[in-house]
Amino acid sequence: MIMTAQIIDGKTLAQTLRAGFKKRVEALMAAQGVRPGLAVILVGEDPASIVYVNNKVRACEEAGLYSEKWRYPADVAPAVVLEKIAGLNADPKVHGILVQLPLPAHFDEAAVLEAISPQKDVDGFHAENVGALAQGKPRFIPCTPYGVMKMFAQGGIDLSGREAVVIGRSNIVGKPMALLLINAGATVTVCHSRTRDLKAHTRRADILVAAVGKPHFVTADMLKPGAVVIDVGINRLPDGRLCGDVDFDAAKEVARQITPVPGGVGPMTIAMLLANTIEAAEREAGQ
Ligand code: GUN
Repeated sequence: MIMTAQIIDGKTLAQTLRAGFKKRVEALMAAQGVRPGLAVILVGEDPASIVYVNNKVRACEEAGLYSEKWRYPADVAPAVVLEKIAGLNADPKVHGILVQLPLPAHFDEAAVLEAISPQKDVDGFHAENVGALAQGKPRFIPCTPYGVMKMFAQGGIDLSGREAVVIGRSNIVGKPMALLLINAGATVTVCHSRTRDLKAHTRRADILVAAVGKPHFVTADMLKPGAVVIDVGINRLPDGRLCGDVDFDAAKEVARQITPVPGGVGPMTIAMLLANTIEAAEREAGQ
């Protein structure tokens, strides 16, 4: 008999974490006179990116971090952004630097990410930090998969020896998610747009992470009964409502635990950005 799935409440978990971050910021201020600082760079006018960046800056302020936001028009010369990054790398007020992705097509995204000091790379996208994660010795874990791992820990979800399937192979979510699951002892399959017979893979998953970017892409018949379903998607429907990659209403009748959208992974991403920024400041202060 299948009962309705337990909801993994990312919003509440993120709030709990953020209350703890506030205390860590106060402790660092008291002990070292250091206020953790985040600089966010946004290029262009993508409405979703504008919302994400504003949410990140607001979360910083609420937790007592210093933050600055740098906005450039979509046609800005990449050299201007690279010069700003060089300045932020040298700025002692700034412990974390985040360049919101995607960048406009005339940017070499990798070159921009490599320009960020690895010690300030709170997204964990610099090749050095990707390498550290791949070797199982992470220094900064990309915020979204980091948040998902926190949800597993909070929910007491055991990963060791379990079948985990990740749908999506992006550098931001799919790849680092797969590395974290491997490091945690799961048997990991990464599916993507070229995968044949996707359902044959997803039906085997004890843990399913969907990072596709398509509303209702994962349907209930694709799930193993009793699976843990993590929905990373944030999609806007024509009527303006947000929805995930998973057909939540049907999937919750098959899954054992499931994340909602909104209120699931999204708030955790922001919480882990704060965690990484505070961590960067603590390391810089020698703690
Ligand atoms: N775009 C979508 N997600 C992310 C993220 O986690 N970090 C950055 N920098 N850009 C993003």
